[in-house]
Amino acid sequence: MRALTGIKPTAMPHIGNLLGMIEPALRLQDQHEAYYFIADYHALTTLHDRERMSQYTREVAATWLALGLDPRRTALFAQSDVPEVTELAWLLACVTGIGGLERAHAYKSAQADGRDINVATFLYPVLMAADILIYDSNLVPVGRDQKQHVEMARDMAAAFNSRFGEVFVLPEPLIRDDVATIPGLDGRKMSKSYANTIEVWLPQKALRKKLMGIVTDSKGVDDVKDPDTCNVFGLYKHFASPAQQAALAARYRAPGLGYGHAKQELFEVMDARFAPARERYDALMADGAEIEAVLLDGARRARTVASGVLTRARTAVGLGAAPRAPIL
Ligand code: TRP
Repeated sequence: MRALTGIKPTAMPHIGNLLGMIEPALRLQDQHEAYYFIADYHALTTLHDRERMSQYTREVAATWLALGLDPRRTALFAQSDVPEVTELAWLLACVTGIGGLERAHAYKSAQADGRDINVATFLYPVLMAADILIYDSNLVPVGRDQKQHVEMARDMAAAFNSRFGEVFVLPEPLIRDDVATIPGLDGRKMSKSYANTIEVWLPQKALRKKLMGIVTDSKGVDDVKDPDTCNVFGLYKHFASPAQQAALAARYRAPGLGYGHAKQELFEVMDARFAPARERYDALMADGAEIEAVLLDGARRARTVASGVLTRARTAVGLGAAPRAPIL
């Protein structure tokens, strides 16, 4: 089976991305052939800033590598280094009705916000379908918010196949239902759009400061507290062992624990968990050459697959085999 997923380089990855998507996707490397990419074309629908685009692209790549992506097995690449995908998006757009795209969540919410919507935002699900289909992907590990997009990709593949013959593999979204929503600083789902994220690679001091900003109720040190409704504990659960969780929960239920102490405990488990990966992340970011080499090699491997599938699709619709530039 082949697994594929993408992350948009629109911010430094946060804990919600990590627990909800990156770590589960990394576990798939062991049983499946994996293609993981940085969705820079998709980011370009909203991010119009050259410096930030390239910075976030390196940050996302370094995140995958620091957390254990093995580039010898898994192809890690930038979406735009495989430009065949935009051509496939065109072929798919030609079998996609406007109605379905109007029902896409991302488009509807952009509309609800009264944003000035560009054409690429409307076509976002078509490009995403091309991303998935061009690698003959079977499994697409994504967060729950992307489920609809993967289903749309499946529908486009089926529509294309029924018109032109069996060209595309029908993909399945892989959503981890056991992952509870990760609370952000304010207790709502951690999301960039709520500005409540905790970035994975903050330097220790900044991470600690961020955690001290988690919203709690106003109970004092001597009040007993409820771990199950506390945002600090809600995060702690994701990083602490069962024994550590039981111990901190007991301290919540007795006088003598302030929220500041609980936050310090949270900082310690998070720091212990990410310190080695953070060192690797910092080293990768300090010298961009390794990231660059990994992305180039990943793109070369990805293009080999992509150009084969694209040729299949072009042939199926009756286009000629365009002379292809050599794959570098
Ligand atoms: N739309 C995804 C997101 O915002 C990113 C993405 C782009 C993607 N193409 C993809 C995810 C293909 C999975 C498969 O998170």
